[in-house]
Amino acid sequence: MNIIVAYDSIYGNTAKVAAAIATALEPDNSVRLVSVQQARQTDLGTADLLIVGSPTRGFRPTPQISDLVAGLTPRSGGTAVAVFDTRIEPGAVRSGALRWVVEVGGYAGSRMDEMLRGRGYVRKSDIAGFLVAGMRGPLKPGEIDRAADWARSLV
Ligand SMILES: Cc1cc2nc3c(=O)[nH]c(=O)nc-3n(C[C@H](O)[C@H](O)[C@H](O)COP(=O)(O)O)c2cc1C
Repeated sequence: MNIIVAYDSIYGNTAKVAAAIATALEPDNSVRLVSVQQARQTDLGTADLLIVGSPTRGFRPTPQISDLVAGLTPRSGGTAVAVFDTRIEPGAVRSGALRWVVEVGGYAGSRMDEMLRGRGYVRKSDIAGFLVAGMRGPLKPGEIDRAADWARSLV
């Protein structure tokens, strides 16, 4: 299967998750791992499965990922898509009020999923959210393994 993993990352955590996803899929598939900047120069239409990842920033994906997604068109009949995000572990937010806001505000994954399905992409799996332990990371222990398991569940 032809798979493209496109991601954005400010502090490097989402990049690590994206790399783990690509590595897990590589043995049996043709996989390309592209940053959002590289994705602009890549024909994403060649993918049988497009995987898109972003950090959650202010309850949303980054503007760069939103712009990328807004410009995508699936194949006729719909290209399969799977999305993931990184997000703060709720327990790491000390203020109860702020924790409530973060949880109610939502995450990048559901926004990307809505946008992609609105454009005719077909959701391949549940949205995955991978946890960071502080505002800038690092990833919580076990999240890289969980990302690899999620990736393998897609194919
Ligand atoms: C300005 C800013 C806003 C953020 N907003 C949210 C948020 O709304 N919800 C959340 O769960 N995490 C939020 N975070 C934590 C990010 O999700 C975290 O920085 C990100 O997962 C790290 O990924 P990256 O290293 O790939 O940039 C925010 C972090 C920053 C710096």
